[in-house]
Amino acid sequence: MPTNSAAWLSAPYADLTVGDAPYTAASAGELVIRNRAVAVNPLDDVKQSTGDLMYSWLPHPAILGEDVAGEVVDVGPGVTGFAVGDRVIAYAVGMEKNRNHAAEGGFQLFTVVRADLASPIPDDLAFESAVVLPLAVSTAASALFQADQLGLRHPTTHPRGDAPRDWVVVWGGSTSVGSNAIQLAVAAGYSVLTTASPQNHDRMRELGAQHVVDYRSPSAVREIVSLLQGHRLAGVFAIGTGSAEPSVAIAAALGCKRVVLASPSVSMSILPRRPRAWLSLARFGALMAYRMGLLQLRGLRHGIRARFVWGSSLMNNEVGPMLWSEFLPRALAEGSYTPTPRAEIVGSGLASIQPALDALRRGASATKYVVTL
Ligand SMILES: NC(=O)c1ccc[n+]([C@@H]2O[C@H](COP(=O)([O-])OP(=O)(O)OC[C@H]3O[C@@H](n4cnc5c(N)ncnc54)[C@H](OP(=O)(O)O)[C@@H]3O)[C@@H](O)[C@H]2O)c1
Repeated sequence: MPTNSAAWLSAPYADLTVGDAPYTAASAGELVIRNRAVAVNPLDDVKQSTGDLMYSWLPHPAILGEDVAGEVVDVGPGVTGFAVGDRVIAYAVGMEKNRNHAAEGGFQLFTVVRADLASPIPDDLAFESAVVLPLAVSTAASALFQADQLGLRHPTTHPRGDAPRDWVVVWGGSTSVGSNAIQLAVAAGYSVLTTASPQNHDRMRELGAQHVVDYRSPSAVREIVSLLQGHRLAGVFAIGTGSAEPSVAIAAALGCKRVVLASPSVSMSILPRRPRAWLSLARFGALMAYRMGLLQLRGLRHGIRARFVWGSSLMNNEVGPMLWSEFLPRALAEGSYTPTPRAEIVGSGLASIQPALDALRRGASATKYVVTL
């Protein structure tokens, strides 16, 4: 039995601490991965910083982490298409409801993952480059392709280039989720307009966006509406705090009825990282209720359905297999899909995961903080 260890969140608000962890073998439909790289996400920060406000079902001590890359060391009964020794990336869903929470957390040496949320990666793709993908690409795919979200056509590795294209607006293209949404929408045959800070505009175009607008510009909504006037807009995907309001305004101006939201209108980073911050919590709750209420009212006036997406929802519908078993393995093997955003390695070893989370809390621009193991 391999010896396992993990970066544990021993109690709400605590720093992660490295300690022994049980090793769990693969059950039916599962793989065990010896992780060689993990990445941190805002979700991990939110869970660590806000106690049980989110993921209240996750017991402490907990193992956070969604993005893993490494070698398969165990293949569960009924799994086809994977063998011991394969190099893979996977979306670890240990933080979700009704999962084997600790065994399926990403921040440990050995993680149990669902085989249907794993993809082989080519030999020339480094673990630390590929590990930026799992949560971000899953969230982007859930938002773009689920029938109850934007419901777009599915991506292919050889999109047709001749037909007149509908447009998709990705507000927040330089986020991890957004840079994957751009690539997926282009692969599905849509033209993409996105927003980012000017230093990231070239990168957005490299990923396939046709127009890029600075989201901080006071005229951003007007610019976007004027660029897309007369074109068919299939949907708007709003990513980043403050993205919901301009996204609904764009949809309203262009007669588009579908807007998907990845982020709440108020950032959870305004909450202090400590228990019983009642005043801040009350302020946060009131602000959130006010902004979301106003947003839904505006949407309703224009017949717009603005819905939140949940990154792991694809594991319960046809988008999961489409992305993880068909599109990603083929696109990564062909080199037609770029792992994005770029990885910045914060350190090596489980003890470097807390510094990676601290770096994320200070901010990231078109970058994913990664730890090698
Ligand atoms: N609902 C879900 O299941 C789910 C899953 C994953 C993530 N999320 C949420 O999605 C958001 C992005 O997550 P991520 O991991 O992709 O983030 P990330 O990669 O850490 O995002 C960093 C980027 O955010 C951009 N940004 C900051 N404020 C923005 C705004 N107001 N509008 C547009 N872009 C903005 C910055 O762009 P510039 O540097 O170009 O300025 C920066 O490049 C977060 O709010 C996260 O909580 C939700």
